[in-house]
Amino acid sequence: MIIITGITGGIGNYLFNTFSKNGEEVIGTYHLEKPKGSQYKECYQLDITKPEQVEKFVNKIASKLTNITLINCAGISYNSFAHKSDLKKWLDVINVNLNGTFFLIHALLPVMREQKFGRIINLSSVVGQTGVVGTSAYAASKAGLNGMIKSIALENAQKAITVNNINLGYFKVGMINTIPKEIQKGIKAKIALNDFGDPENIFNTIQYIRNTAYLTGSCIDLNGGIV
Ligand SMILES: NC(=O)c1ccc[n+]([C@@H]2O[C@H](COP(=O)([O-])OP(=O)(O)OC[C@H]3O[C@@H](n4cnc5c(N)ncnc54)[C@H](OP(=O)(O)O)[C@@H]3O)[C@@H](O)[C@H]2O)c1
Repeated sequence: MIIITGITGGIGNYLFNTFSKNGEEVIGTYHLEKPKGSQYKECYQLDITKPEQVEKFVNKIASKLTNITLINCAGISYNSFAHKSDLKKWLDVINVNLNGTFFLIHALLPVMREQKFGRIINLSSVVGQTGVVGTSAYAASKAGLNGMIKSIALENAQKAITVNNINLGYFKVGMINTIPKEIQKGIKAKIALNDFGDPENIFNTIQYIRNTAYLTGSCIDLNGGIV
């Protein structure tokens, strides 16, 4: 079974629907508003920054937890030069992208270890590797994920649990829509394939990770050849 956080977002929603259509058992989490549609009946409200809510969520779905793939998709960004940053907003980004992701992993690892199987896949970002003006919080949160998985991969390798990140470039759905068109043009010019990615590429990469037991502690760059 698959757990996906942030299923109201562009990428999370695409993944939730694609895995569901493929006949997989998928449980989704939404943050503010439950999406409409009968396919969302296995979706639960969850603020991933609240560890007690995460624990409750995991307890609620306990009977369904088997062969778990956890896809950490929930994330936020905040654009501001470092010296002008609102500290509360800066911390919010770290809390959602880094701490929230960890809280899900922390709550599900005991079950995965007991079952001697697990796939943990985090959606990280090229921004954590390259640096982009105005993204210190986002870059720090995503770079944090890249360090975090190295330790968790080592701790859980003997239990057949793999932990990997996909370092995404820029995709056609989701956060991209918050970037002004002029800036989008400039970003596209830096992408060898000259276009934003189709989310199908993320789905395919997740399937590759799920099927590849020897891959752990890795960050896969999925960015169309960005420079
Ligand atoms: N799209 C891209 O090009 C791109 C590129 C690089 C990396 N990524 C990463 O890929 C992931 C998905 O991106 P996206 O473009 O689909 O983003 P998105 O459309 O902005 O969706 C983000 C999702 O995260 C949820 N969320 C925010 N705060 C939350 C919280 N406290 N608890 C639980 N859920 C929360 C949002 O729910 P609410 O709206 O209800 O708050 C929403 O469902 C993110 O981690 C992002 O950093 C995306």
